[in-house]
Amino acid sequence: MNPRNLLVIGGSGFVGSAIVRRLAAQGRRVVVPTRRRERAKHLILLPTVDVVEADVHDEAALGALAAGKDAVINLVGILHGDRGEPYGEQFRRAHVELPRRIATAAAAAGVARLLHMSALGATARAPSMYLRSKAAGELALREAAGNVAWTIFRPSVIFGRDDRFINLFAQMQRFLPLVALGRAEARLQPVHVEDVAAAFVHALDRPACAGRTYDLAGPRAYTLRELVAFAGRESGHPRPVIGLPDALAYLQAFAMEFSPWPLLSRDNLDSLGVPSTSAEPFAPELGVTPVSLESVMAPLLAHRLPRERYMQLRDRAGR
Ligand SMILES: NC(=O)c1ccc[n+]([C@@H]2O[C@H](COP(=O)([O-])OP(=O)(O)OC[C@H]3O[C@@H](n4cnc5c(N)ncnc54)[C@H](OP(=O)(O)O)[C@@H]3O)[C@@H](O)[C@H]2O)c1
Repeated sequence: MNPRNLLVIGGSGFVGSAIVRRLAAQGRRVVVPTRRRERAKHLILLPTVDVVEADVHDEAALGALAAGKDAVINLVGILHGDRGEPYGEQFRRAHVELPRRIATAAAAAGVARLLHMSALGATARAPSMYLRSKAAGELALREAAGNVAWTIFRPSVIFGRDDRFINLFAQMQRFLPLVALGRAEARLQPVHVEDVAAAFVHALDRPACAGRTYDLAGPRAYTLRELVAFAGRESGHPRPVIGLPDALAYLQAFAMEFSPWPLLSRDNLDSLGVPSTSAEPFAPELGVTPVSLESVMAPLLAHRLPRERYMQLRDRAGR
């Protein structure tokens, strides 16, 4: 196994970009479909990467994209969607139907390898639509994969330079006098985006990873409150973190769902109802020793301080 021609669906996103950069650095040819080419412009300059506008939900388009590929990677995921039981239509389409279609297209095109991104805590009886639909997606993909050698990854929350998690907590504390937090005692085991990307790329070449499902979690677990406090402290804007009782937290999330870009939904709070932690260390065949949150994010958050001051001075000077 040494796939040279790859299709990376969801390759324009936070995790996908880290994977695509690694693949390109190894000289592998990568096609990244996107709904808007503009969103993937940071990948266009990579020499072996082709960014194409395509509707991956369309069977014919997907078949054409999969043709001639040695491996397909699926990273498509959404955090918010309409409500329903066991999940709403948008979750069904992105997390269940799309993995099924991708696996079917990969099998029909004779693709050898299929890597799929799920999430830690995904089970049919999980408390959120996000996690229930991710579980159904794993099942759908395995059912449709036929002879394609699949591997599924289930990460906890992922941090890194461009994350919308630790960076968001840091940014919020720049503007807010305090942080009112739902599910403040929820437990998470954050994992670095480069460790996730390295695990994907290693798994491509290792036959031992075929037919396996891997948890991906960092070296230690934290409460959500600890993570928010860490982001505030390291970015130089530490604020008090007040834990909200559930009734208030759900009211806050319900109000946020009316925003065109909701930061939080009731379903996100539901996801936090189960620990996103794993007792399983990184499997040795993935070739990764996970790094700590502090070693990566503390310098990045501290570095923002002088940059932020510079940007403020520029703004004031009208430049
Ligand atoms: N980030 C985390 O902390 C975390 C934790 C656990 C699991 N995961 C999973 O990891 C995967 C990648 O996460 P991420 O943080 O990289 O997400 P992201 O930055 O939001 O990227 C999502 C990607 O999916 C594509 N996409 C989104 N909705 C789509 C739709 N309806 N149809 C087709 N394509 C769609 C986007 O492509 P366009 O270019 O077309 O917009 C984008 O490339 C997801 O499956 C997520 O559930 C993430």
